[in-house]
Amino acid sequence: MKIAVFASGTGSNFAAILESIKSKKINNVEVVLLVSDRPEALAVRTAINESIPVFSFTAKDYPNKQAYEEEILEKLTQLEVDFIVLAGYMRLLGHVLLHVYDRKIINVHPSLLPAFAGKDAIGQAIDYGVKVTGVTVHFVDEGMDTGPIIDQRAVTIDSVETRETLIKKIQEQEHKLLPEVIQRLANMEAAE
Ligand code: GAR
Repeated sequence: MKIAVFASGTGSNFAAILESIKSKKINNVEVVLLVSDRPEALAVRTAINESIPVFSFTAKDYPNKQAYEEEILEKLTQLEVDFIVLAGYMRLLGHVLLHVYDRKIINVHPSLLPAFAGKDAIGQAIDYGVKVTGVTVHFVDEGMDTGPIIDQRAVTIDSVETRETLIKKIQEQEHKLLPEVIQRLANMEAAE
């Protein structure tokens, strides 16, 4: 299964996917493209170091979402991408990609959705005072962190928790769950 990963920032989930492939924790999955809306993102540097093709863009250079998504789609089509993985991609997808990749786009989010959708889900959980939060991987639709849930992992928030320790616990779970779900999808794709 050929996948494209979309990332806006650090790309620790992107790196976790690459590591899972290298160490053969996941099989029959190839990352053929990294897409980023921030050319200076660390994820872009990781892709370059790993010789993975990059398509990076600056949204304000385009008249609208449709225009840059059409360019992304052209790349995805050229590279015969089967699946899209959003790993910290901080933009809503538009109809160009959602239409062609219907039920073939997943996202990882740092909360137990539908709680704490949107930006800074970890900060939202701390501010609310919940004792359990977690990680969700879900199919992507036009909403913000909506779409059918594929799997979740719970993470407890201890009385001594700080933002930093909670981020670390959540990321540990993300880095396991996201590759696991990708493998399940690849197995399903192979069985089709
Ligand atoms: C991850 O925690 C991911 O769940 C979150 O962005 C972070 C990216 O980290 N995504 C969202 O909040 C989506 N709404 P990374 O760049 O180190 O993978």
